Amino acid sequence: MTGSTAAESAPARVRPSARLRGELRLPGDKSISHRALLFAALAAGESTIEGAGDGADVRSTAGIVAALGVDVSRRPDGRPVAGRTVAYRLVSPGADGLREPSDVLDCGNSGTSLRLASGVLAGLPMTATLDGDGSLRRRPVARIIEPLRSMGAVLTARQDDSLPPLTVVGRTPLRAIDYATPVPSAQVKSAVLLAGLRAEGVTTVREAVATRDHTERMLRARGVPVERVDEPDGRVAVSVQGGVAVQAIAERVPGDVSAAAFWLVAAAIHPDAELVIHDVGVNPTRRAVIDILRSMGADIEERPLAARGAAADDGVAEPIADLIARSSNLHAVDLGPAEVASAIDEIPVICLAAASATGTTVIRGAGELRHKESDRIAGVANGLRALGADVEIDGDDLRIRGGGRLRGAETDSLDDHRLAMTFAIAGLVAAGETLVGRPGSAAISYPGFFDDLEAVRA
Ligand code: S3P
Repeated sequence: MTGSTAAESAPARVRPSARLRGELRLPGDKSISHRALLFAALAAGESTIEGAGDGADVRSTAGIVAALGVDVSRRPDGRPVAGRTVAYRLVSPGADGLREPSDVLDCGNSGTSLRLASGVLAGLPMTATLDGDGSLRRRPVARIIEPLRSMGAVLTARQDDSLPPLTVVGRTPLRAIDYATPVPSAQVKSAVLLAGLRAEGVTTVREAVATRDHTERMLRARGVPVERVDEPDGRVAVSVQGGVAVQAIAERVPGDVSAAAFWLVAAAIHPDAELVIHDVGVNPTRRAVIDILRSMGADIEERPLAARGAAADDGVAEPIADLIARSSNLHAVDLGPAEVASAIDEIPVICLAAASATGTTVIRGAGELRHKESDRIAGVANGLRALGADVEIDGDDLRIRGGGRLRGAETDSLDDHRLAMTFAIAGLVAAGETLVGRPGSAAISYPGFFDDLEAVRA
């Protein structure tokens, strides 16, 4: 499994670089790639995906879709940098023709595969079990079991229905629900909306803080009306009507802004840097990392790519931009729970930016980070402390006193891709040599990350 392969890799050694220059082309957005594969399974006929992320997580979802009886083929997509992205062609019999998988569905390290696939399986007349690596088996599933059960599916999991493996006995049709998510989670929202497609009536998901809206945009692009109501206090309600068929389309996936985040921080904390990052998805519900870094003083130029729907945000197309990031003098920032939810995957690398900024950064309400691929609060604090940063954990809050120069040290990614990449970026500015333990995990979301790290030193 992914986790054990990554665990076997030797530590990566990163030395500081005098200059950072280069042009980067990123893996396709992971969230969009997962959804494009799953939606292709629901849509009868031929779907194509260009620029899909080719990390291990997205491959897990492709495996799940194939196990449901979809014909899945892959080919290089002719983009300038091989290995970051891939093209898929999928031919599906449509939701009603999918077949019961003959084996356990292996989600590897991917929480998104497990939670979104559960939403699909809940509405299909079959039994399927979802499992994954050691990290995935520690991640909570009660948050999807509860709403999907109330829609009429039968779900059971290990340890009193709290941890994977998770078995789903689906049912057609499901009951529509009106559901308020207890924690802001795009995965939970998406699982319920996907089940809602197979329910009688209108299914509504209410969120206290708006999470990433790729599911909504991508369903609209496939002919499914999705309604969204924004309350003045930031709460949102998203609804789908059951029984509407998902249409097969050709999808183009933008570069992953969560991957761009590493280079935005690298440039900002390095004294002599200019990095151009091409074709980055800058969806308003995903771009918080750009805005947070700017509020810390980061010099990030954004050139929208109007030709691909970026100029006017129509709630369907994904806005895209080239980003140019340069050396900056960062200062501390105060982030609350809403900002944590909007930048959930980028908080570890934002902590690195904070460690290199003047002043004390406070990040409040970051408890969800404990439930990611690792306990990211403990993991990032331990790694940054090893590198000489002053990091304090107070319940679900983090306090990072920045300013001192980081010094090379031994860090441990805990087999967590985002921690591996955060500590490797730290190594570009830390004095001496930085060791990143279990660096292979970077390939979960960013195959070729360490090649790009070498390339930008030139
Ligand atoms: C994702 C949602 C987030 C995020 C994950 C991808 C998605 O998880 O951390 O990397 O694609 O919907 P939660 O919804 O559990 O916060």
